[in-house]
Amino acid sequence: MDRRELPPPWLDARIEWNGERHAPLARRVKCDVAVVGAGITGLSTALMLARAGKRVVVLEAERVGAGETGRTSAHATHVVDAWLPELAARHGESEAKMLWDGAKLGLETIARQVAAEGIDCDFARVPAVIYGDDPLRLAEFAALARQIGYACRQEAPEFLPFAARMILSFEGQARLHPLKYLAGLVRGVLARGGHVHEGSRVTEVRPAGTADGVRVVSEGGGEVVCEHVVVAAHVPFHNRVFLHTKQAPYRTYCVALRVAKGSFPDLLLVDMGKPYHYLRLQPRAQDDLLILGGEDHKTGQEGDHEGTLRFERLARHARERLGIDAPVEFQWSGQVLQPHDELPFIGLNVHSRDEFLATGFSGDGMVYGTLAAHMITQRIFGRTTPWDDLLDPARIELEPHAVAQFVGENKDYPVHMLKDWFVRREAAEGPAGLRPGQGGLFKVNGRRIAVSRAANGQLLAVSPACPHLGCGVHWNEAETTWDCPCHGSRFSAEGAVINGPAAHDLDVVELVLDPVPAPGAPVVAEEVAP
Ligand code: FES
Repeated sequence: MDRRELPPPWLDARIEWNGERHAPLARRVKCDVAVVGAGITGLSTALMLARAGKRVVVLEAERVGAGETGRTSAHATHVVDAWLPELAARHGESEAKMLWDGAKLGLETIARQVAAEGIDCDFARVPAVIYGDDPLRLAEFAALARQIGYACRQEAPEFLPFAARMILSFEGQARLHPLKYLAGLVRGVLARGGHVHEGSRVTEVRPAGTADGVRVVSEGGGEVVCEHVVVAAHVPFHNRVFLHTKQAPYRTYCVALRVAKGSFPDLLLVDMGKPYHYLRLQPRAQDDLLILGGEDHKTGQEGDHEGTLRFERLARHARERLGIDAPVEFQWSGQVLQPHDELPFIGLNVHSRDEFLATGFSGDGMVYGTLAAHMITQRIFGRTTPWDDLLDPARIELEPHAVAQFVGENKDYPVHMLKDWFVRREAAEGPAGLRPGQGGLFKVNGRRIAVSRAANGQLLAVSPACPHLGCGVHWNEAETTWDCPCHGSRFSAEGAVINGPAAHDLDVVELVLDPVPAPGAPVVAEEVAP
């Protein structure tokens, strides 16, 4: 079954690149640095390294931008997701400032790349605005922002077309078209002698031996021998357990509404909800798209139809709360990784001297991904940066709030292991009762299987055991995917891995229904409760 297409508007741009496919790697090559993942982090790192003279090879599992960079709403701002006063209370004021400084470095680096490489990606400086009905909370935020050196304005929201008591605005932030930006980064990498290979899913990273370097193995016979590897694949699949207990995967949803040109101000907007809504404009030739996002929930832990309902809720929020009654032209979802202490993980993999990783970006992938590229490039050249300790992936956070969050997020793993494998209920109909687009867990002929029905009526069966650490996957009807509730791996209906940490596909299962049912006839099977 094709994955139900919920394409973001950015994919329009990829049509222009059709002549620029990058062949898979099918042989052994040597270079200085292998980069895994052709999203904002991987390509920014590759460009910085190539510009500094390193021989770079980028390996991308699917296509450039096919991962989360292609699904972001692309807010580029130092006003990061973590609420500033809470960040300062948890980590200290100077650490909160350091994080904002890092995000600002990411933002300004994007601006410099756009200018230096001549990237046409709709980059524009716009204000970032927080709005809400709690002036005291906003005042606390504003006071702290000014204290750490960031100017802002607190005022009545006269230019907003909907009611809000107060806003806080920061000038000089940016929005951009993420895939056009990636296309510019790719051109920069290739122009400096780097290589980009699509369709080259990395399955293994082997540490350096005494005689040779790190070996990065990809599907289809590719192997890169290198001094350093940078795993920039959103989630570090080669770190099997440690990091996945320190961050939690969430789905986030977006709708893009077609509005008349100039009818809505060009800015980045967030409200004060938990989880919050976010909004930005994407100008087009004849009209504008208003991108509204939110409705986050933990991956694989909602009902089958939940994604569909969340799109409807976003459209209703636009209509009823923001007064924007406009047609939805695009709707899609993405995955964000929420670290237990609100700080991204950037640096060397635990117990390694040559494997770098970057993950845990919450909703701030544009700026943190670019900051990560800067930090990792400096480290590869033997230099330090001010963020090395704060964002060290090996850090142990003993602050009580972080510990509580750590425990809260990780109770999911044992709970789901037990629930998914021991709780069952009888179902009146087995897999034969599935309608196109539906899926479920069943016990057929004594074996637990995950079955879905494609649009053409075909039943597809895979093993429900997530190849990462064995949790049972759940059906996501909105996106026709199998999602793992433990650490967020996701798979197509055919079992192909879409999001890690799983590095391998679900096993395909031959579905034998005995006796073979007539079309529409019920078969005897048990359904495993979600
Ligand atoms: Fe860890 Fe599935 S993602 S068990």
